[in-house]
Amino acid sequence: MKFFIDTANLAQIKEANDLGILDGVTTNPSLMAKEGIVGEAAVMQHYLDICNIVNGDVSAEVIATDFEGMVAEGEKLAALHENIVVKVPMIKDGIKAISYFTSKGIRTNCTLIFSAGQALLAAKAGATYVSPFVGRLDDISYDGMELIAQISQLFSIQGYQTQILAASIRNPVHIVKSAQFGAHVITSPLPSILALLKHPLTDSGLAQFLADHKKANS
Ligand code: E4P
Repeated sequence: MKFFIDTANLAQIKEANDLGILDGVTTNPSLMAKEGIVGEAAVMQHYLDICNIVNGDVSAEVIATDFEGMVAEGEKLAALHENIVVKVPMIKDGIKAISYFTSKGIRTNCTLIFSAGQALLAAKAGATYVSPFVGRLDDISYDGMELIAQISQLFSIQGYQTQILAASIRNPVHIVKSAQFGAHVITSPLPSILALLKHPLTDSGLAQFLADHKKANS
């Protein structure tokens, strides 16, 4: 399973990349705004900065919600760097745009997926990735992981090449269960990735090893 980081924060992207486990980055308009990246020139430069840190796919989301607007924005984004994946919302014109991008060889990530039917339609249009939002489903008392399992089964039965990118990850259990239920990729904020490192028995075990070594060597 690939690990993407879900942020536009360059320091956090570098920190995850330095671990040697990072396969890509996802951003969205909210994450870009959080970093204070405003205006087309700044946005484009920021995507380039991200691409220069990580050797992997970088999802850049279109702002337009009409077909022509999405195509114009997406083509500009795709031309920016070979690692850019155009992120398109799961709406009618979005599916039309994904079909267009697929025919032009431009890779896409269909975002805001909350049902298996939406994932099916995006895969049919040729999306490179579909992004089911597990955390936001859990937030409203639906089972986000159940959706990952359902899409995984459906794609495998139908032989779709579209990759399941589990998004809206809130904790390390989401990451482990995404792997278990067949996601090809997770995109997570840095704290949930780092939380995978933690176990109290690792900490106490290491402390004991170091104490025994010190005692034996003093
Ligand atoms: C990633 O592609 C999504 O935009 C992101 O995971 C959404 O996460 P959130 O629900 O924490 O905002």
